[in-house]
Amino acid sequence: MTATQEPGAARCPGPSVQDYLDRDSRPVPTTLRYDANDYLGSDDIDVERFTSPEWARREMDKVWRKVWQFACLEQEIPEVGDHEVYEIGTDSVLIVRTGPEKIQAFVNVCLHRGRKLRTAGGNVPEFRCPFHGFTWNLDGSLKGLPCVWDFPHVDAEKFGLPEVAVDTWRGFVFVNLDPYAEPLADHLGTFVDHFIWPLEDRHKALHVAKVLPCNWKVAQDAFIEAFHVIATHPQLLPWLADANSQYDATADQPNWSRMINIQGAPSPHVADMVTEQDVLEAFYFSRSFYAATQGRDLQAPEGEDLPQVPEGGTARAVLAARMRDQLSAASDADYSGVSDSEMLDAMHHLVFPNFHPWGGVKSNIIYRFRPDGLDPDSCIAEIIYMSAPPKDGPRPAPAKIRWVPEDTLFADIPELGLVGPVFDQDCENLPYVQQGLKAMRKPGITLSNYQESRIRHFNRTLDLWMST
Ligand code: FES
Ligand SMILES: [Fe+2]
Repeated sequence: MTATQEPGAARCPGPSVQDYLDRDSRPVPTTLRYDANDYLGSDDIDVERFTSPEWARREMDKVWRKVWQFACLEQEIPEVGDHEVYEIGTDSVLIVRTGPEKIQAFVNVCLHRGRKLRTAGGNVPEFRCPFHGFTWNLDGSLKGLPCVWDFPHVDAEKFGLPEVAVDTWRGFVFVNLDPYAEPLADHLGTFVDHFIWPLEDRHKALHVAKVLPCNWKVAQDAFIEAFHVIATHPQLLPWLADANSQYDATADQPNWSRMINIQGAPSPHVADMVTEQDVLEAFYFSRSFYAATQGRDLQAPEGEDLPQVPEGGTARAVLAARMRDQLSAASDADYSGVSDSEMLDAMHHLVFPNFHPWGGVKSNIIYRFRPDGLDPDSCIAEIIYMSAPPKDGPRPAPAKIRWVPEDTLFADIPELGLVGPVFDQDCENLPYVQQGLKAMRKPGITLSNYQESRIRHFNRTLDLWMST
């Protein structure tokens, strides 16, 4: 077994994502023509970063306490007094709408004896600590305290809640615990030019969270490459072009990367075994197709004929056309000019360190992975679905977070559609990776050159932060 390609040129034989885009039935957006991957070396990545409690503590100080991170959605706090709590490591941040156009964030701790002020989101006219009743105005200034005669040493002017930097990008709220943080826009870099899909026009229809028994990077890394599909999700091979996915990750944009997985086309591993009609049927019955309507219509309507790929046609063209019809029927939007690629493909973006929005029209999903306290062996994984507003009636309120117990499967949440069982397959590996990394006698993990280049890119950025 020998690789024949130069390290920086390693690519799967056969059609590339760009070749598929050439055959699209509509013009594709310019950003999908962006195809940029810097070869960043082939060295192993040390195991310690995934397993060491000391590493996890340093990571908290050097990264999570310094970096912009996705905290909540603006739509979750539309009214003055609405607030959300975002927790990271041992830190807790209170994000509150303090004016119609103003959002502020504070350290979510009472300055008296240190009780957390709020343990969940909601709406309040002021922040009153449940322990003894110290109270702060929404803008963080001290409002009052019981038995003020007993605190002659407390200067109200100096007893405001410490502020946390907060900024927004298209409806997403980011916080930064470092008072000297760079502007959010600098952190996001050219990601803002490349993510063109209006997620902010959608409402948060589903939000599930689960504690997983592995390091947050072990969990995340399982979702930023398609190399694992052949062994972990073999059922997807007839309609997911896995090995010829595109990975965009460059040295001059350390804070974001992207992968495009072509869907409605076969994996190169099985391409010579399936017909276009096989591809269509496998995709159609995978529920992925109906998941496009996100919870409203997960099953094929009764009596609907199975579409047929015409002579010389492709499954992608037929599926994209059917999906345009489906989505047009379910909303007021006009999908007639939307490319096949935006209808069908998975376009996963990662903004360092915890914001994972999917682009395109089909999959309006956001992932988030973060540490669970200071434990290197535990993390919090979240899936958020952003749905188009219904055709009739008002925009629904954003879904509240649902914590999935450790012994419950994502497959038991029907609203997740196809993603639920697929996520379960991913999660089956994760505890064994965490355990295996500790048993391994090799000091590092070995990555593929191209398909796992986002993992290398992410860890390179992590190293930059850790070396400050
Ligand atoms: S700890 Fe908050 S009022 Fe005492
Ligand atoms: Fe997976």
